[in-house]
Amino acid sequence: MKSGIGIGLIGLGTVGSGVVKLLGENAGVISRRLGAEVMLVKAADLDASRAKALKLSKDIYTKNADDVINNPDIDIVIELIGGYRPAKEFILSALKNGKPVVTANKALLAMHGEEIFSASEKYGAPVGFEASVGGGIPIIGAIKQGIAANNIQSIYGIINGTSNYILTKMTDEGREFDDVLDEAKALGYAEADPTFDVEGIDPAHKLAILANIAYGTPINFPDIYTEGISNILPEDIRYARELGFKIKLLAIAKLKDGEIEARVHPTMLPEDYLIAKVDGVFNAIYVVGDALGPAMFYGRGAGDMPTASAVVSDVIDISRDILCGKSGRTPVASFRKGNRKKLSVMPIDKVRCRYYMRFTALDHPGVLSKISGILGRHDISISSVIQHGRDAGSAVPIVVMTHGAVERNVRKALAKIDGLDVISAKTVVIRVEGEE
Ligand code: HSE
Repeated sequence: MKSGIGIGLIGLGTVGSGVVKLLGENAGVISRRLGAEVMLVKAADLDASRAKALKLSKDIYTKNADDVINNPDIDIVIELIGGYRPAKEFILSALKNGKPVVTANKALLAMHGEEIFSASEKYGAPVGFEASVGGGIPIIGAIKQGIAANNIQSIYGIINGTSNYILTKMTDEGREFDDVLDEAKALGYAEADPTFDVEGIDPAHKLAILANIAYGTPINFPDIYTEGISNILPEDIRYARELGFKIKLLAIAKLKDGEIEARVHPTMLPEDYLIAKVDGVFNAIYVVGDALGPAMFYGRGAGDMPTASAVVSDVIDISRDILCGKSGRTPVASFRKGNRKKLSVMPIDKVRCRYYMRFTALDHPGVLSKISGILGRHDISISSVIQHGRDAGSAVPIVVMTHGAVERNVRKALAKIDGLDVISAKTVVIRVEGEE
């Protein structure tokens, strides 16, 4: 049996630096669990100052990723540069060399996962991607192993800490989106370009990965309906509270009649739901399995050490197989090659849920009956209505909560309602999860 595992790291940014620290600080417990040492053989980054800050020796630091990928002393390659190129080439080259890969690269897996999974199977080299979803939360391992006996019925994820931080502050302090976003940037939570976080792209990348391994189907990011939080207003958060709901940016995947629902959008959740209580930068993934029932995985979805925890857990898992001379024990995409099948993804038009609608209507007699008449003719039943105060002759908000309705009907009804001369602004719509 080998006495040590050689690691090569590409990328010494936040997570890469965390991995270097964790391999050093927790070397004792890691080697006791593994029965072998994990040694950092090479670490590549174009920026030498990062290696200097980590006090990496000249033997270990390199500017050239090829020194990692083609190094015979390296058993596992860790890719932590993010983005599509050259990360994809590095991963494919490492796999071609028969080297297992560990990555946190959610965007790459959500766009090119199938190519990477196929290469992994072809060259018999595993790919670990625990850190790609939910930072330190071990949700990939849970789906691939811990709850593998279940048909997974649904997944609800708060899997973007930046947007959850913004919505939490807007809810708790009644502040505007732009104001809290500026604060999140100043605190280093949001990127200088926060588009991926606040427009739902980052959680949609993560949902593609979760749905892929939960349902054994090659679903990719473009298959996922995506809406962000940049249009959420404090007044909708206030109405949500009045109705007993909270607004969260939710990533939802469900298997229904052989079709997958996969969507990311602001969602109203009953405030007593466990996942509605997940606040700040924290992430949570609530999974319902047919045998298990509901289970919620909660923790830090970002940050150097939590994410490094997930990366190094993959290193340990793969090392165990290497030390036993085995590979391919757990299929890379959770289902055995050949047992995965393409499932169709339900178009958003077919989705059925409850809806919150905020109309801006002139305060005239008969306005509500016009609105409710159109909703009724589109098979949309109202569960409650709020109108505060009155302002005869001017526009006032009228808030309607519906029972379960089909999105196509909702869109058609709202196009008609927004065309009425008594409606003075585009109606705000937010999907609602919970009992119909
Ligand atoms: N930008 C992500 C977030 C963290 O805000 O949750 C990394 O996935």
